[in-house]
Amino acid sequence: MVVEQINPDSYKRIVFFTGAGMSAESGVPTYRGKGGILDKYNWQEVASQEAWEKHPKKVLKFHEKRRTEGLKCKPHSGHKVIADLEKFHPNVWIVTQNIDGMHQQAGSKKVVELHGSVWRVRCPKEGRVWEDSKKTKYSRQKCKCGSWLRPDIVWFSDYLDTKVTDKADEVISRADLFISIGTSGLVWPAAGYPARAKSAGAFLVEINPEPSEQSNYYDKVYPGKAGEVMPQLFGVK
Ligand code: OAD
Repeated sequence: MVVEQINPDSYKRIVFFTGAGMSAESGVPTYRGKGGILDKYNWQEVASQEAWEKHPKKVLKFHEKRRTEGLKCKPHSGHKVIADLEKFHPNVWIVTQNIDGMHQQAGSKKVVELHGSVWRVRCPKEGRVWEDSKKTKYSRQKCKCGSWLRPDIVWFSDYLDTKVTDKADEVISRADLFISIGTSGLVWPAAGYPARAKSAGAFLVEINPEPSEQSNYYDKVYPGKAGEVMPQLFGVK
């Protein structure tokens, strides 16, 4: 596969739109496909409001396991390319569906987390959110009001936070370069973002070993892995 190098200076506003495949080479499982989480777990049983109300301890145990596994994972060269680019380019944003905090671990600061983060907790009663120490167990945490704290993430059937989607809309509607990495493009509203970037006039690049639902929107499609294509795309040795 020949990867045409991108000169970031030719673009004013760059958006990286990432999904689970971005973290796959770091060791974080994807949702769908081979080894995907959805093959092993019934999502409604461990990550939905209904499950939380029925058996909160089971839900917390599932997310605790994911955090523990996540602690063993480290960002790869693809995450680092984006984080380094943000240091010298004034307008680089990440809009991610990932909840693993891997972009921030690599050093990225301008990250819009559409589906929240396992590294934050939320009081379901008061709605307050705060950063959580990586070692603390969810199941041992209660808010001052007495409620068990839940991970600050979007579960099946949850609405997305409109402040977060407004920010994503704002950065995408101004993008002139939109690079999608590792998403199947099946989950809304994120699935509509490539079309939005296209209508805003951005140049669209997709990196994914498999075709996605939106592959036809992209100006360039690289059927490869994030950690391999990203350094080539930005000429990093
Ligand atoms: P998926 O698991 O649906 O898709 C992962 C994508 O990554 C697939 O298209 C793979 O082909 C691709 N992929 C795998 N390895 C890769 C690699 N090394 N480099 C690049 N791409 C690779 O994950 P998402 O599209 O992120 O939502 O899923 C979207 C949402 O579905 C998640 O955020 C989650 C889930 O329901 C919530 O939890 C609300």
